[in-house]
Amino acid sequence: MSIDFYWRIGMEGDHASLRTPRRYNRGDAGGYGPGNIAPAIRGGELDGYSYIDHMAAVAKASESAGFLGGLLPSFPMTEDPWATAAALAAETTTYRFMVAFQPGFLHPVQAARMSASLQRATGGRLVYNIISGGGGAPQLWWGDKVDHDDRYTRTSEFLDVLKGVWDGEPFDFDGRFFQTHGAALPPGLAGQPFPEVYFSGSSAAAVAAAGLHSDYYLSWLEPYADLRAKIDGVRENSAKLGRTPKFAVRIDVVARHTEEAAWAEIEKGWAFVDKGAADRAAQGDSVGAARIKGWVPEHITGYRDLEVQPNVWCGFSLIRGGPAFGLVGSYEQVAERLDELRELGVDAFILAGNPHLEEAYRVGEEVLPLLQRTPITPSGLETR
Ligand SMILES: Cc1cc2nc3c(=O)[nH]c(=O)nc-3n(C[C@H](O)[C@H](O)[C@H](O)COP(=O)(O)O)c2cc1C
Repeated sequence: MSIDFYWRIGMEGDHASLRTPRRYNRGDAGGYGPGNIAPAIRGGELDGYSYIDHMAAVAKASESAGFLGGLLPSFPMTEDPWATAAALAAETTTYRFMVAFQPGFLHPVQAARMSASLQRATGGRLVYNIISGGGGAPQLWWGDKVDHDDRYTRTSEFLDVLKGVWDGEPFDFDGRFFQTHGAALPPGLAGQPFPEVYFSGSSAAAVAAAGLHSDYYLSWLEPYADLRAKIDGVRENSAKLGRTPKFAVRIDVVARHTEEAAWAEIEKGWAFVDKGAADRAAQGDSVGAARIKGWVPEHITGYRDLEVQPNVWCGFSLIRGGPAFGLVGSYEQVAERLDELRELGVDAFILAGNPHLEEAYRVGEEVLPLLQRTPITPSGLETR
């Protein structure tokens, strides 16, 4: 059986290492400032190098290091994943773009048209990461006051409409959140391959909607026993609907020649620890974020307190924001832990590391070839 490996593209900026976690100094994602190496000032003016140039470097590097594609996350402070996917597609050959987006911020007929155009232009390289929002301030940023469970009703309606118009036959829908009458993708756009659907959310409402729509149920990494229980729950729920989704996990990785060297890297990042970050990440109504916070101890005496099982560390959110869990260890150990996840039922991985560029090469070239249960899926449409 093949495994799909994606790499995360940093859409919020990128820093030179875990040791400089709060200095986004690669490209001009946050504007040009002290510490930026490129763009450079020449003749008193910026030379025009922009953050998209850095993202293109990461996409190309991960494509050549064996990754099937890249996840393009979406938060208020990130670049827009749709526009970025279109720009980066021209820079890559077979690389797929997993666009994270919240249904509800776009009409589904418009989303269908954008998606079909991208599919046609790229030879079918669009993948969806359907996110339904974590509540709190980021939701209000978008003017979204729909409550937690209703957001999943909206997501479900959105995907019903998107699928309904996809084949080009006139489609009517009169839902709570969306209506359309006689809509259909025009000839030429109709009939493109429908993007694979990755679907995230840990709440009961998320699992119910994922049962209806997901090709891959996507989770952050958690302690393995909890992840296994989560996968079993999703599988059970989907089976009642006659569906059998695959499973994907998003994981940060610090892998080095030796375990000691990997922990030394964490220790350097720990100098910048922000112990309040776990609380802030769980301020909305996200059940998944609350689950994760539950594993981060209240009182931390040192970074090894956060190793919840061998090589599984839940301190990443405290040194660079984002999800808490990742793998820390030698190349062999990280490969073994990934193999164990395969045995647990995981079919696809979204891996990440800082800096995104060098770590893409390192993980692709040093870790992925050690996996027992590959063959690594060759990048390309023949794997569809
Ligand atoms: C792997 C993964 C990636 C996610 N990426 C994003 C993202 O890019 N933007 C975002 O706003 N939410 C993201 N989320 C959050 C989820 O979409 C969802 O809002 C969150 O899990 C809360 O849902 P819940 O209450 O059902 O757990 C992600 C979640 C997971 C598991």
